[in-house]
Amino acid sequence: MTRKVRKAVLPVAGLGTRFLPATKAVPKEMLPIVDRPLIDYAVAEGRAAGIETFIFVTNQRNEPTLRAHFDMVATLEAELAAKDPALVRRLRDGEPPKGSIHCVPQGQPLGLGHAVGCARDLVGDEPFAVILPDDLMDAAPPALAQMVAVHERTGGNVVAVEEVPRELTRRYGVLDIGADDGIMAEVKGLVEKPEPEKAPSTLTVIGRYVLLPEVFEHIAKAERGAGGEIQLTDAMAKMIGRAPFHGLRCGGRRFDCGSRIGFVEAQVGFGLKDPDMRDRLMQFLRASGSEWE
Ligand code: UTP
Repeated sequence: MTRKVRKAVLPVAGLGTRFLPATKAVPKEMLPIVDRPLIDYAVAEGRAAGIETFIFVTNQRNEPTLRAHFDMVATLEAELAAKDPALVRRLRDGEPPKGSIHCVPQGQPLGLGHAVGCARDLVGDEPFAVILPDDLMDAAPPALAQMVAVHERTGGNVVAVEEVPRELTRRYGVLDIGADDGIMAEVKGLVEKPEPEKAPSTLTVIGRYVLLPEVFEHIAKAERGAGGEIQLTDAMAKMIGRAPFHGLRCGGRRFDCGSRIGFVEAQVGFGLKDPDMRDRLMQFLRASGSEWE
């Protein structure tokens, strides 16, 4: 019997330097794609996968904003109820249940592995998800739900993966794979940010994970890896061979909203999905395309 995945860790304590000056006062995960902040998409994906508890790993600057975002609705509701009940319903739809949001500080941004390690006490001894809100996934069924289903079958670790051009491997954690059915690949090794010629494959880890709690022991012992940071990849690599470990291609599209181009693509991609703006946006893109050709 596998244990249910009930908790998700959302590390949001990074510096967000690629979005300065936008991120001087506004946390990166609060930047909106169309009309919802990135954080809302992450929470919605978590809820669709059965997540009941969301643990944000924050820094001093973004914690008050995050809390305000999730607490806001009560006061807003009162003001809006009389004016626009439909808007109140929309706000409620995106709102996680009371008591489901927790924040834990990461004193210093020492890396993703370190950030996940900060949630150890709140996660406890059960499998859990990690969601990086700046990787915006648009998949059906939602990516994390697919991964939880695989975890329920295998009882092991599952990471979301994507093929990248070989010259880009130095930006990602890269898999060394065993059996591969084209959707799910057995993980035989993991390397963080390898040079293209040393990369064991071009299958890379993207911002969704379902991990066994044993990973915390490896994070606690971890030394600084690539870029001087405590890497989640290094801790995950220690679990290979001890428990089932798979990479899952979740289909759909992934927008790397931590990069400027990915962020702009997400605006366009989600704008085109919105029936209220699709036609006008298409017209604008066609006209702009011919103008700049
Ligand atoms: P990134 O590599 O995108 O770093 O982190 P960043 O600091 O957010 O952004 P740039 O590169 O300076 O523009 C991936 C995710 O891991 C979190 C980030 O908040 C982001 O969600 N993270 C990273 C932490 O929570 N703590 C860390 O020490 C590092």
